[in-house]
Amino acid sequence: MADGLPRPRHKWFAALYDRFDRVGESKTLALRRSLLRGVSGSVLEIGCGTGKNFEHYDWAQIESLEATEPDPFMLGHAREKLAGLDAMARSKLTLTEAPAEGLPFPDERFDVVVSCLVLCTVADPSRSLAEVWRVLKPGGELRLLEHVAAEGTWRRVQDAIQPVYGWFAAGCRLDRRTEDAVTGAGFTLEVSERPKFSALHPAFLGVARKAAS
Ligand SMILES: C[S@@+](CC[C@H](N)C(=O)[O-])C[C@H]1O[C@@H](n2cnc3c(N)ncnc32)[C@H](O)[C@@H]1O
Repeated sequence: MADGLPRPRHKWFAALYDRFDRVGESKTLALRRSLLRGVSGSVLEIGCGTGKNFEHYDWAQIESLEATEPDPFMLGHAREKLAGLDAMARSKLTLTEAPAEGLPFPDERFDVVVSCLVLCTVADPSRSLAEVWRVLKPGGELRLLEHVAAEGTWRRVQDAIQPVYGWFAAGCRLDRRTEDAVTGAGFTLEVSERPKFSALHPAFLGVARKAAS
């Protein structure tokens, strides 16, 4: 690409995504709700996928929600979810096709950025986190639910299956050290939970803050 930005296109993954997720639905659902609890103001959700989080926002507390997603097939499903929301939610939600590495928003625009199972899949986590930092207001927060690299034997299993897994899971990586990437980008990270979607998918739920000035 001339601008160097990733443009994923995974038609079948987008078509099946909501069904895959049903495998661990009750655990995922509780985590999605925890991730979004208390989110308010001007909000950005990166890599919104098919829009699975939309129904879990407290829309009365949201001023506006910009949801970005670079894959046009995922975005198509997100548009369908938007159409099914109530009038208040629909009036506050805007969908934009864009990767996290190139967010089409001005500096310091958002109070909160949400990243839900996205930093495992972005092409460039450092560049994505630099963009999130740029668009967050001073003192703003990045809400994170992300799966990460395992330790010991399971880490070796992750390495062994990554080529096949990555192909099936539309580029998702099992071996990301996302907490290090977040603190490396300058955020102060507070982890509240360390759930496991499976032995291959240890995860963390947390809030990363941008310094107030
Ligand atoms: C595992 S899905 C998660 C979707 C959604 N956030 C959710 O909670 O269900 C990963 C998402 O990241 C998106 N993605 C891939 N590359 C990306 C990038 N460079 N920037 C932002 N999102 C990206 C994929 O298209 C996909 O929708």
